[in-house]
Amino acid sequence: PAGGNPPVRRLSDWDAERLHRLAAAHETPLYVQDLDRVRENCERLLAAFPDADVRYAVKAHTGRAVLEAVRDAGLDAECASAGELDRALAAGFDGSRLHYTAVNPPARDLDHAAGVAAGEPGITVTVGAVDTLDRLAERGYDGRVCVRVNPGVGAGHHEKVTTGGAAKFGIPYDRAADAAREAAERFDLVGIHAHAGSGIDPDQLDSHRELVARMGELARDLADPDAAGDGDAAASADPIALEYVDVGGGFGVPYEEDAPPLDLPAVAAATREAVAPLPEDTDLAIEPGRYVVADAGVLLTRVNTVKPTPDETVVGVDAGMTDLLRPAMYDAYHPIRNLGGGRARDGGDAPSVAEREATPVTVAGPICETGDTLCKDRALADPARGDLLAVGVAGAYGYEMASQYNSRPRPAEVALDDGTATIARRRETLGDLLTVERGAAPDGDDRP
Ligand code: LLP
Repeated sequence: PAGGNPPVRRLSDWDAERLHRLAAAHETPLYVQDLDRVRENCERLLAAFPDADVRYAVKAHTGRAVLEAVRDAGLDAECASAGELDRALAAGFDGSRLHYTAVNPPARDLDHAAGVAAGEPGITVTVGAVDTLDRLAERGYDGRVCVRVNPGVGAGHHEKVTTGGAAKFGIPYDRAADAAREAAERFDLVGIHAHAGSGIDPDQLDSHRELVARMGELARDLADPDAAGDGDAAASADPIALEYVDVGGGFGVPYEEDAPPLDLPAVAAATREAVAPLPEDTDLAIEPGRYVVADAGVLLTRVNTVKPTPDETVVGVDAGMTDLLRPAMYDAYHPIRNLGGGRARDGGDAPSVAEREATPVTVAGPICETGDTLCKDRALADPARGDLLAVGVAGAYGYEMASQYNSRPRPAEVALDDGTATIARRRETLGDLLTVERGAAPDGDDRP
């Protein structure tokens, strides 16, 4: 692309006229996802980690068009559920490119994964508890397995997404070698895995390095139990040659317009250094989600109410926490830009946004919860009714976390591909809200 492949796309880089046209054609709230930018992000990851297996954490954005772009770019797919596995299969990933990370897996999901494995033998199941091995065996699964480790150290933009160190995820580090040996006896053990958390910023790289170093050490202990010196059991154990050491995803992207981006080549170099020396024939693996899709997406929303109060001006918009949950859930910051186009109070056209004064406002959605705000006390070009607001860096965990709370249909999403805009996910209708109600199930099965 012209201008190279910058490490981040800022909200101000989007073509405002184009966003106006898309909002006029498809209404709001509307997600816009730029596949060209998704491809650039994949390329940048592959260039920074040329010798690693790069897996896309599908949960960040599961849209078919995105998955196909990621597949064509050559990344594998890391899936968290039966549904994500199905989406990845539908997007053309074959079994050898599927990694199912089973977190307290519901029986239905394990059944599904075992079924998928029967048809797509290359799939890998990552287990975070020893009894998941039993549950896989009960289903006749005897394929590729990876052991997820709790590395005892984590990082992330919020405690709710700091995974490493949380007891929920993975087998405690000091039991991981035993678990891996058990897995190797019963299945085809191919890897070990740990994930620090999501949204690792430049100042948290030390924690990530620590995690990577511990995983490298574990891989060496498994490869050479005699040298590990961790007791008789280990000394009498067979060496285990792993295909890979997966150190997870979590690479942060800047949300504030002036925040510095991660220096990806430097992160890659630090990762390689921390994991080294890896046993021969063992590769590094990573599984970023946010980094691939976050800055490729914006959410467009229309101003419907401007309400001055003694304390603040509340700008009401048609997108809320049901469309973009991150501000309500994590107090997450998303850049917001007023693209204008609205009406003045006297009914005439409001002045162009360039001529308006920056005014501190709270942008609030239509949901009946106080937490339903997209920002507070933020300076925007004085919003008027009918203005179009663009909410930036909305491509990761945006549409994915949308809900129908307050019986609000989920928004539409447009995919931009080499200049062409197509509806990637249609807007839900009020009718869609009723389709799963009692009596409406396709098979008419109303049992509890
Ligand atoms: N691998 C595993 C096992 C994960 O659990 C996750 C994210 C990833 C990879 C990808 O992490 P990423 O590269 O996208 O940071 N909803 C939250 C983020 C939750 C992430 C959960 N796991 C948010 O909106 O910030």
